[in-house]
Amino acid sequence: MIEDLKRVHDLIDEMFFDHQKALLHFEFDRAFTLLEMYETVLIRHMNDEEAILLPVYSERAVSSGAGSPKYFFDDHAKMRSYVAVFKQKTAALRSEPDLDRALLKLLDREAFYLRLCSHHDKRETDFLYPILEQVLSDDEERSLMSQIDLDADRASAVGAPDLTGRGRQQKK
Ligand SMILES: [Fe+2]
Ligand SMILES: [Fe+2]
Repeated sequence: MIEDLKRVHDLIDEMFFDHQKALLHFEFDRAFTLLEMYETVLIRHMNDEEAILLPVYSERAVSSGAGSPKYFFDDHAKMRSYVAVFKQKTAALRSEPDLDRALLKLLDREAFYLRLCSHHDKRETDFLYPILEQVLSDDEERSLMSQIDLDADRASAVGAPDLTGRGRQQKK
């Protein structure tokens, strides 16, 4: 049910970690491909939330402060633009004259981005997901979730190079 989306967060985190590991090993083409795959799953997840969950949440949930619907859209917009910048920077690494400095700078920006993501995930697991579960009937919840293709998210991650057949460890 809606709580299952937490597993998509874990999957997304793990995909970003794989991109960062490729960066650490100076495998820049691979780091770029992994980042693109990460972006695909991330954007699909955010689009699902924006098109399917957030409209109902805005209408039915009384939530202000940290759970206000606007914050979810704002976080998503920031996340989209960060990932676009990371793609540019990752693609540019191969032609960087001062590679060590450029790579450290990218990893530093990515660390900042990961903090934003973890605040965002917490906002969703503290407000969006549990509040929706409270206000929706079982049928409504089922019908919303039937519009979200969780298998597609899993399949995108499994299709990633070198991600198959490797024990995926839970972070956290
Ligand atoms: Fe989100
Ligand atoms: Fe989410």
